[in-house]
This record gives sequence, C-alpha cells and structure tokens, in this order.
Amino acid sequence: GKPGTELKLGDTMRIFKSNIEQIYGDAPSADGAPLAEGDISGLADGTLYLGLHEYARRFGPAYKLCFGPKSFIVLSDASLARYVLATNNKGYNKGVLAEILEDIMGKGLIPADPVTWTSRRRAIVPAFHKRWLQRMISMFALKVDVLNDDLKTTSGPVDLEERFGSLALDIIGSAVFNYEFDSTLKPSKVVQAAIDTLREAEHRSMTPAPYWKIPGAMQLVPRQRAFTANMNLLNDQLNNAIAGAFEDRVEMDTEDLQENMDYETMENPSLLRFLVDQRGEEATGTQLRDDLMTMLIAGHETTASALTWCVFELAQNPGLLAELREELDKVLPDGKAPATREQIEALQLTRLTVAESLRMYPQPPLLIRRAVDDDSLPAARMPDSEDLSDDLRNNDVEVKMQRASDVFIAVYSIHRSPRYWPEPDKFDPHRWLKPYKNPDEPNWAGYDPDKWMGSIGTLYPTETATDFAFMPFGGGARKCVGDQFAMMEATVALAGFLRNYDFEFAGKTDTPDKVGTNTGATIHTRNGLWMTVTERSK
Ligand code: HEM
Repeated sequence: GKPGTELKLGDTMRIFKSNIEQIYGDAPSADGAPLAEGDISGLADGTLYLGLHEYARRFGPAYKLCFGPKSFIVLSDASLARYVLATNNKGYNKGVLAEILEDIMGKGLIPADPVTWTSRRRAIVPAFHKRWLQRMISMFALKVDVLNDDLKTTSGPVDLEERFGSLALDIIGSAVFNYEFDSTLKPSKVVQAAIDTLREAEHRSMTPAPYWKIPGAMQLVPRQRAFTANMNLLNDQLNNAIAGAFEDRVEMDTEDLQENMDYETMENPSLLRFLVDQRGEEATGTQLRDDLMTMLIAGHETTASALTWCVFELAQNPGLLAELREELDKVLPDGKAPATREQIEALQLTRLTVAESLRMYPQPPLLIRRAVDDDSLPAARMPDSEDLSDDLRNNDVEVKMQRASDVFIAVYSIHRSPRYWPEPDKFDPHRWLKPYKNPDEPNWAGYDPDKWMGSIGTLYPTETATDFAFMPFGGGARKCVGDQFAMMEATVALAGFLRNYDFEFAGKTDTPDKVGTNTGATIHTRNGLWMTVTERSK
C-alpha cells in the first residue's frame, strides 16, 4: 500500500502504546509533544476548535490530544503550519479526511490519492484562468442582484445565513456545470439534495467511527438511505451535464481555451466545459463527476459562511459600516452589484472586510493531515501566556512526529493568536492596511511594503504575505484552487447587500449572543442569522 495512506495496525499500536506509557506510566513522551489534559469542551457540540484554542494557551504550539486509542498532534503555530503544508508537504497526506470524504467526492481533488491528485490538479488549475474569472464576476453580480430584488419583497425576519447559502449554491452550480439551481427563489428537490449531501459530509467528518462502512448500514440506517437517494439525484444531474459536454466537445489546447474564447458571450462558460475540451487532459465521466462534486461542496458553504460572519460583525459595528458605505456609494452609484474586476479593485475596504471575516472565522477552522513517515518538526516557541504550566514556560517544543500520526492544524488558533495579531478578537479590517510583520523573524525576507494591500498586485492578503499567520485557503501544494473565485464572489455579494440594505438582529436571534456557533466543515451559526432587512434609508 501507499505508506501512510492506510493506517497500518503496527503504526497505530506503536502510537497507542507510547501514549499509554506516557499517560499511565509517566514515561517521557515518545513524540515530545506535551499531553493536553483536562476536559475538552466542544467535542460533542461542534465547537472543537474553541476547545483547541483554549488548549493552545495552556499547552503551546504543538500538543497531543488523546481520545481513547486515538490521538492527534495539534499544531497552533504559523511556522509549523508552513512546515507541514508547504516545506514538507510530501510527508503528510489527508489521512482521516480522505477516508471520510471518499464516498462523496470519490477521487476528487480534496481526498484524491497522490497519483490522481497530480494529474487532476494539473488539469483543473488552468480552468480558473483570468478571463474566465472576469466572466464569473459578472455572473456573481447577476445572481446577487436577483437575491437583492427578492429581499425587497420580504417582510419580517429573514435567515441571512440561509439566503447566503442559497446564493452561493446558485453561483457554484452555474460556475461548475452551468446548472441553474435557482435556490435563491424557490425550494427544489435538487437543491435539498445538494444541501443534505453537504450536511452528510459534515456529519461524517464529525463522527469518529465510520459506521456507514459496516455492511448493510447504508441500507438499514435511515439517514444513510436518504443520503444514497440524494447522491443519486445529484449524480443524475451531474452525469447528464457531463454527457452533454462530451457530445459538444471541441478539443483545444489549454492556451487556446484561456486566450481565444469569448467568455463574455459564451453560453456555457463552466469549469466542466473547460475540463472536457482541454486537449491532453482526458478524464473519464466518473473522474469528472468526482471533480465537479468536490468543487460543488468545497465552494458552497465556505463562501456563504464568510458572508454570514461579515454581516454578523457589521451589524455590531455601525462606524465601520458607515465607512464601507461611503466606499460603496462612490463605486456603485446605481446600486447594482459590482460586475467588473475594476470595481472590485476600487472596493478596498470591502475586500479587506471579507479577509477579516476569514481571519476570525476560518472555513474550515482546522485542517487535517497524517504523517506518511517519522519526521522531526522544527522547534517552535512557547507563547507568552499566563496560562502555560511552569514546566512548559520558556521552552521550545520539538515534536518527533511518529509515522501515521494524525495531525490537526488549528487554523482558528493561529488566526486568533495575539503573537501574530494585535487584539485578535477584534473585527478590524483596517489591520490589513499595514504590512504584516513576522514576530518570530524581524528580518523576515517576505516583508515587502510594496507588495501589500492597496499598493499593487494581489487584491487580498495571502498566506505567503503573512508567513502562514493568515491561511484561510491553506497553503503549499494542496492550497485551495478556488481562492480568487471565492474572494471575489464574497466581495461582490457583500458589496451588493451592504450598498442596498439596512439590517438588524431580529426574531430568533434578536441579540448577537443568540446566534451561537456550530461547526461541521465550516463554522456556522447555531440558530441562523435572523435579521430584519429593509431598503437602505439614505
Ligand atoms: C481546498 C478553503 C472556496 C475548491 C481548500 C483548502 C482550504 C479551502 C482551507 C485546503 C484544505 C486542506 O489543505 O486540507 C476555502 C474557503 C473558500 C473556498 C475558505 C471560500 C471562502 C472554494 C471554491 C472552490 C474550492 C469556490 C471551487 C470552485 C477547492 C478544492 C480544494 C480546496 C478543489 C482542494 C485542492 C487540492 O487538494 O488540490 N479550500 N475554499 N474552494 N478548495 Fe477551497
């Protein structure tokens, strides 16, 4: 087998045995990671990332978490995240996550084995080219205007989390396979199937024992029967679209597809179209289904959550909202959502607001990996924390990763660490106007005020510009392929909404504390984001 891909019993036993000796026998830790002890909150109620954040204050940048025979090495340090995701990315694979997701995403990019991943990544990345993204911006604007028109007709509290979810689903369906879910306007069976499939992916990623793999469970357990029915419905739609794309296939070189197509007038500018037409990248129908399903799931709730938390924060921050509206009124005088890249470029504060939402509410809040082999992590510094125990204070921690160890990268903790971010729990998009300074390396070569926000180049802060202290799209080889797409989509949607509506906590969530949080693959609310939404008074 591929090393580390399947858990070998010997590896698991080795890790388990050393943990037991450490916990009960006072033996030194085999991996050098301090053991996090004490109640962990959030395991049962889907806020594990909050418990891990608390632990990072007490046990430092790399600690071990044991649940029965299972253990995780939890990394809450930007330089360790960079090491695992980028420097030594070949030493780590998707581990548990791949096992959980393969029934849904098959050999799609997120769970794919290394051989499939290499060839599909090479085929898919070119599809997200500049001219296609430009066409996508105008599509985002159309869909946002549809939502905005519909909001005009509502009275009483609206669940904005649900509305943003529908918007993101409509957008991703159109981008991926030119399919009109139309979920913004009306409920449908296909929409419900898509939403429920996603929920199942989340349920599975939070259920430690994969009971659905037991023979018969898929037939006997009602939620698993429903899941199969939903998957079939969604697969039918995807397979029809794929068959259609093969019928109309026009083989072209990648550069031709990127440079010589008229994306502005093309009837079907979907990713599917590109993937089928691209010469030299022939994929089977099954592989395409897996790719499309993966992108549908990866690109839906992530973006919706980013929008939800923007609005949640802005409803409590009238000063910032007023400042944003000044920018929006200037760039969008007619109230239509931004439909060009130039408009997005002009909306700097709006863009940074989206980035700030992903800093405070990263989606997903943790990344999962498994060590392919024994490995030594670089030394990491303990935080300046009152909560640290005496034996940990002032020491570096150096983890000797054991082969097959499961790893969490606690993105939430990194994004909220006072080491990297002054006032980390404050929602402040203005923080992005200043270049990031690496606290661990004052002479960090990546520090470049000319390449920062507002000056040139990149529209959004990135993991490389912050040395992995901000990594909403991961980093290294497995970095998100939809990062630009998603950031621009969220910017267009946020701009269209803020420009045109006043909003206020109402109904079930008439105060911010009633919103609550809950996590599956993303941080979502516990009770929805119910607000009254009225046309903006000028
Ligand atoms: C991977 C976040 C939107 C497609 C990832 C990863 C993160 C992420 C953190 C890395 C996972 C890991 O290393 O374990 C986000 C966020 C989004 C977003 C926060 C929205 C705000 C999208 C969209 C698409 C997409 C719109 C597609 C249209 C993918 C794919 C991968 C991925 C295919 C796997 C890449 C690979 O393994 O090679 N995303 N994503 N994502 N994302 Fe996104």
